[in-house]
Amino acid sequence: MQTVATVADLRQQISLWKSQGERIVLVPTMGNLHEGHLALVRHAARCGSKIVCTIFVNSLQFDRQEDLAAYPRTPREDLDALRCENTDLVFMPEHAEVYAEQHRVQKSLPVNPLYRQLCGEFRPGFFDGVAEVVSRLFHMADPDVAVFGEKDYQQLLIIKQLVRDLGLAIEIEQVPTQREHDGLAFSSRNAYLDPQERAIAPQLYAELVRVGERIKSGLRTFSQMESQATERLQRAGFRPDYVAIRDAETLENAAYEADYIVILAAAWLGKARLIDNILVRSG
Ligand code: PAJ
Repeated sequence: MQTVATVADLRQQISLWKSQGERIVLVPTMGNLHEGHLALVRHAARCGSKIVCTIFVNSLQFDRQEDLAAYPRTPREDLDALRCENTDLVFMPEHAEVYAEQHRVQKSLPVNPLYRQLCGEFRPGFFDGVAEVVSRLFHMADPDVAVFGEKDYQQLLIIKQLVRDLGLAIEIEQVPTQREHDGLAFSSRNAYLDPQERAIAPQLYAELVRVGERIKSGLRTFSQMESQATERLQRAGFRPDYVAIRDAETLENAAYEADYIVILAAAWLGKARLIDNILVRSG
């Protein structure tokens, strides 16, 4: 496994592989790798012949509510884990390497309402930061395929749209959310939970499952279900930003007859802002 820190070294290796007919699969991450990330890497192995992972804590997607400096960083453990998963190359750049070019790719994208709702409403600028770094990483690595998790469902849809808007020939692969035994989705931010909060945390997923079951049984009182779920989370000790029942393809409010639905939630528990979602086929 190679580790590179500069765009020049990254490009050199990838062009060599491409000239040899290799199919490049990119897995972008912010490091502090867990089973969710590793599931992406395992999926990547089935999508191409060379796996390239990036580890870069992107300052552009942090706001004042979450301290960039406090974000967990475990480079040595991350490299060990990636080596075990047969990763071919890890790109670990410094901020200046990624942001050497002043031009903001994101500013040339069409205005998209997806960026401003749900997490985009509660974390202004967050998806602009994500779109900026992901388009830069796509440009630098020029992959054939890129893999993302359903855990960050709004991010996944934004990236799919970004690929269409920029006319990139990159296939986007998605991997289901990986969970702890009690249902809590793996997340680097789970490290912010104290033992008491950690015991409450699985109730976020449990609430989504509960709403999902009711939808599957034919209930369609979506806005009432959203407020009831929000109240239940509050009673359990969360400070919910939202619970939303949306069309899984567009993220618009789910229509009565919608048959592919995503139930999304974001809620604070102590210092951690947890997000989760489940996909439901109601038809
Ligand atoms: P990060 O939070 O490190 O996540 C990297 C990738 O792992 C994302 O595609 C995310 O959806 C996926 N992932 C995280 N937890 C998961 C879980 N429990 N199950 C399945 N997949 C999971 O998302 C980011 O970084 C950044 O926004 C990034 C795309 C790297 C841009 O900076």
